[in-house]
Amino acid sequence: MKTVLVSGGAGFIGSHVTVELTQAGYNVVIADDFSNCDETNYNGVCKILGKELPLVKMDFCDAEKVDGLFKEFKIDAVIHFAAFKAVGESVSEPLKYYRNNLLSFMNILEQARKHGGNVLFSSSATVYGQPDKCPVTENTPRKPAESPYGNTKVMCEDILRDSIKAYPGVRGIALRYFNPIGAHPSALIGELPRGVPNNLVPFITQTAIGKREKLSVFGNDYPTEDGTCKRDFIDIVDLAKAHVCAVARMLEGRMEERYEIFNVGTGTPLSVMELVNTFEKVNGVKVNWEFAPRRAGDITAIWADPTLANEKLGWKATRTTAETLASAWAWEKHLKEIGK
Ligand code: WQD
Repeated sequence: MKTVLVSGGAGFIGSHVTVELTQAGYNVVIADDFSNCDETNYNGVCKILGKELPLVKMDFCDAEKVDGLFKEFKIDAVIHFAAFKAVGESVSEPLKYYRNNLLSFMNILEQARKHGGNVLFSSSATVYGQPDKCPVTENTPRKPAESPYGNTKVMCEDILRDSIKAYPGVRGIALRYFNPIGAHPSALIGELPRGVPNNLVPFITQTAIGKREKLSVFGNDYPTEDGTCKRDFIDIVDLAKAHVCAVARMLEGRMEERYEIFNVGTGTPLSVMELVNTFEKVNGVKVNWEFAPRRAGDITAIWADPTLANEKLGWKATRTTAETLASAWAWEKHLKEIGK
């Protein structure tokens, strides 16, 4: 049985990936410093799987701790999620973002260099900026990042690429996520933003349940059919499954290059208004919303061409937007039940 280390495994994406990996037959070691989450998702993961998973509380910026972790466990692949991700905060606190997001990843790569290793990096469609043409393929040129957060994704991709080039034992895959939304069908794990959510779907669910008074739909004068932005919203369980495919590709020696990049999206864009309307219809609830001015830094539209992931990873998004938004709502109701 192969062992996969999931850094940031108690977070939104990490917890879903942990479940899918375990169900696919991998041993998972979760490491998280709980700086941006509590134990809700970790507990949910254990409940879904019916067993306790190894959990190491640690900060990946601590090189000695990372070294110790790789000595304690024989790790076959690492998936790196442990990073700060608030776009706005990264603009006011750039050093916090550069220090944490780059150093933690370099500490992992140092271990991969030493022991040989397979590294999966969680990148983002943010590296494309506002593309000249949609959908974007992996060869669409990257644009200079709009925020230090986005820049850490660009820089980590480059650090991974250069490390793979220099160190013969290192292989890696960067997955570029579009907009991950939804929750596990069990409603036991999901997105748990601290404070006011930055992202659309948690803001919708929190408004629908009464935690927030009103959703602001940022901008209705974009050059799209209904004037609101368009995104490629990808179900979190579908997204998690792409990681299982990518890990298998690395561990089973099926990579065609030592560094590969895949878009992880549905290939179908949806506007912000379409998403809000679908949420209301599917769940039979009203969302109090109003149009507000554009949000700084937002791009008009982006969606993926997922052909490469479909063909090479053997992965495809399967859940419908309706299913995904129903799971997001079930999760919000679960949070209310457990007093979160
Ligand atoms: C989607 C659309 C908003 C909130 C960001 C990061 C990206 C990635 C995912 C995260 C936009 C609109 C939103 C609200 C709204 N990284 N919106 N009202 O900006 O596409 O991507 O999150 O870790 O790197 O940039 O996602 O969910 O914030 O916004 O109208 O209250 O919803 O304007 O058009 P985004 P989002």
